[in-house]
Amino acid sequence: MFVEKYRPKKFSEIAGQKAALKELISWINTWGKDKKACLLYGPPGVGKTTSVYALANEMNFEIIEMNASDKRNAEAIEKIVGNASQTLSLDGRKKIILLDEADNIYGNVDKGGVKALAKIISETKVPIILIANEYWEVSQSIREKCKMINFPKLRYTSIARVLKDIAKKEGINVTDFQIIALAKNSGGNLRAAINDLENYRENIGKIENLRDSKTDIFHALVEIFKRKTCKVREVLWNIDKTPEEILLWIDENLPRVYEKTDLPEAYKMLSKADIYLSRTKRRQQYKLWSYAMDMMSCGVSVARKGEIKFVKFSSPAYFTKLSKTKSERIIKKSITKKISKKCHCSTKVAIQYLPIALSLSEFFEFEEKEIEFLKTVNI
Ligand SMILES: Nc1ncnc2c1ncn2[C@@H]1O[C@H](COP(=O)(O)OP(=O)(O)OP(=O)(O)O)[C@@H](O)[C@H]1O
Ligand SMILES: [Mg+2]
Repeated sequence: MFVEKYRPKKFSEIAGQKAALKELISWINTWGKDKKACLLYGPPGVGKTTSVYALANEMNFEIIEMNASDKRNAEAIEKIVGNASQTLSLDGRKKIILLDEADNIYGNVDKGGVKALAKIISETKVPIILIANEYWEVSQSIREKCKMINFPKLRYTSIARVLKDIAKKEGINVTDFQIIALAKNSGGNLRAAINDLENYRENIGKIENLRDSKTDIFHALVEIFKRKTCKVREVLWNIDKTPEEILLWIDENLPRVYEKTDLPEAYKMLSKADIYLSRTKRRQQYKLWSYAMDMMSCGVSVARKGEIKFVKFSSPAYFTKLSKTKSERIIKKSITKKISKKCHCSTKVAIQYLPIALSLSEFFEFEEKEIEFLKTVNI
């Protein structure tokens, strides 16, 4: 997993938590004077646990961790933390006691856990670090004995920098635009962003990498329609077409090839693929792309119960229509551009003037073909 592989070992590798790290270092350097514990708090995936391990690594501390799954009643806390807080390491290294998910302590029925911990913090011979997501969920009597250090949400620019670095090291084919989309989508949680990048690599990066060996769409259609197996998902990995284009190709040819009775189920799969595709775009969740590809390949393939007809495949009608209307769109664009210039408005607003534009042809300095267009087209 990338999150483990790229977990920072040094302070210099930790992104965007300068202020928090400075406080953490100053706390450990002065610990002993007031023996306050330290409470790191902040949202998930911003580097709290990582920073403690980096601290231990850089300053050669041994970490005694009491993890969240351990029972946290008075007895357990005294046994693990209490013992550790009274002894030095066998190898002579200094110790730090770490209680991750400290907001969990009094979640236990046995409220004695809080009391025991408060006592240990007062008496300990080694520094104690607590970690929590919300500081107010840590009991007041413990908070009073802690230096509070906030680890805020990471800025998307910091997240994008880390993602870019990992993508480069892993040779993942991803654009800056996609990196920024992933970073923004993470809500300041770097762990989530890194996981998304890994998912993206698993599902889409693979497709992108294979794209130089172009398999033709006709071959893919034959495979999908003919083989009735989920293995056909692989045929789409090699195609040099966008998922949206592939969907249109399948959509165009499906009713010619499948029996009528198989169409409802097959179209259900295509419509699901379509939903996933639009969600991919809207939410920038690239892992949904692979679901869309699976729906349109194996979904459509296994939806078939009956026979297939052998026909010549056609390119999607949508494309033909698009090329026919292309010249019209170019003329319309040049008209709205002229209107927007003369009227000092946006082209969006200019479109609203099209119905009256013909009568003002001279003013707008339309050319012959633009006038012809305005005459013939029903706007
Ligand atoms: N500031 C950061 N700089 C670099 N990597 C980070 C940072 N924050 C998180 N990561 C990455 O995310 C992973 C998880 O981070 P970490 O365990 O420190 O999060 P956390 O703040 O303790 O979250 P939680 O509250 O969920 O325990 C790390 O392994 C690392 O890959
Ligand atoms: Mg953590």
